[in-house]
Amino acid sequence: MSAPKKLYIKTYGCQMNVYDSERMAESLGGQGYVETQSPDDADMILLNTCHIREKAAEKVYSELGRFKGLKAAKPDLKIGVAGCVAQAEGAEIMRRQPLVDLVVGPQSYHRLPAMEARAGTGEKVLDTDFPEEDKFEKLARRPKAKRGPTAFLTVQEGCDKFCAFCVVPYTRGAEVSRPVDRVLREAEDLVERGVREITLLGQNVNAYHGAGPEGDMTLAQLIWQLNEIDGLERIRFTTSHPNDMMDDLIEAHGTCDKLMPYLHLPVQAGSDKILKRMNRAHTADSYLRLIERIRAARPDILISGDFIVGFPEETEADFQATLDLVEAVKYGTAYSFKYSTRPGTPAAERAQVDPAEADDRLQRLQALLTRQQREVQDSMVGREVGVLFERPGRFAGQMVGKSDYLHAVHVADCDAAPGDLRRVRIVSSGTNSLAGELIG
Ligand code: 5AD
Ligand code: SF4
Repeated sequence: MSAPKKLYIKTYGCQMNVYDSERMAESLGGQGYVETQSPDDADMILLNTCHIREKAAEKVYSELGRFKGLKAAKPDLKIGVAGCVAQAEGAEIMRRQPLVDLVVGPQSYHRLPAMEARAGTGEKVLDTDFPEEDKFEKLARRPKAKRGPTAFLTVQEGCDKFCAFCVVPYTRGAEVSRPVDRVLREAEDLVERGVREITLLGQNVNAYHGAGPEGDMTLAQLIWQLNEIDGLERIRFTTSHPNDMMDDLIEAHGTCDKLMPYLHLPVQAGSDKILKRMNRAHTADSYLRLIERIRAARPDILISGDFIVGFPEETEADFQATLDLVEAVKYGTAYSFKYSTRPGTPAAERAQVDPAEADDRLQRLQALLTRQQREVQDSMVGREVGVLFERPGRFAGQMVGKSDYLHAVHVADCDAAPGDLRRVRIVSSGTNSLAGELIG
């Protein structure tokens, strides 16, 4: 038997790309590839890219440039670009960087093994179609190899919202949901392999409407189905849009044991003028009322969010409205970004905010969010929480896991094994994690 070929995949961007990279590696496994952690000994390099902000796309080109020496030393080395930059720029990537042998969009990666074979004959191969067939079904089944305690599972892709700043509707296409039985089959398979916590993924995951035995199911209905799987202990989902936060999903947060008290619900801005220009189709007030309803169903839920500062025509008063909204919500965690112009999106045509002003706003927002994040984390001290242990810590006898609220928790002298879900009393709060002790 010939030695296995080596595949180096580098993943940028969101969790959906992490999931896609796993599936691409599995499907190339059928071509005799095993994964390697370094590009230096690879026979194939694949960059799974993100196009959400300008910097993310530029990083891809500078990374590609660094492979020049490797390709010169090993002419058979195949270099591929996958993901959203591949979708958005297509053949332009090969023009700009002739080292690239293949370009595959996020909807076509089930065709990767065939593309790899063609690239092996020296051909340049490009596929950025939105094919009719279901790529997840065309992919080789996930092999039975043992898995860690947590896993991502993509249930929905694409976005129909067209926020004025965002490339996702163009790179990932229209909203599509996977059928319920396929999601359940994959979840059962993951649990058999050791997974205890599944995070359901989708660009608009709460717009899920997958075909079930008696018509479409909502995300909440899917979660109730997953709740029945023995051995699955925790369910999470991300990312949600406020306008798709249905009553049954809110209710499930109060009644479904395995659904964790954590919700990532981006609002982007707090000024109604900016929200309107962003085409968000909700107001600051409707978002705040929604948060109230969610907290009425599950008072201890930890809320997470995304924010953009310096969106075109954002004034200091508009920015102040974002700070006011943050004060009102009290986020447990949040991600904030400076607006980045994306060619082809409606906002790209509008008057831009002075970059220095946008930097200053980002700093002020991040200072407030960091303070809130710390307050929420500190408020865990003295409480008893569930912790799903994932791995040993840096010190002998220490174990690290995640709380129900997704905080990292360290426990010293801990007899728990990876995959164990145990009750823990939180004793102290550090910069980015909590420390606790096992109860019982
Ligand atoms: N500029 C800055 N941030 C953006 N996001 C999406 N598009 C842009 C852009 N053009 C942010 C949003 C989104 C997150 C995934 O990335 O906050 O929720
Ligand atoms: Fe982009 Fe808006 Fe769709 Fe989220 S909801 S993926 S920000 S267009």
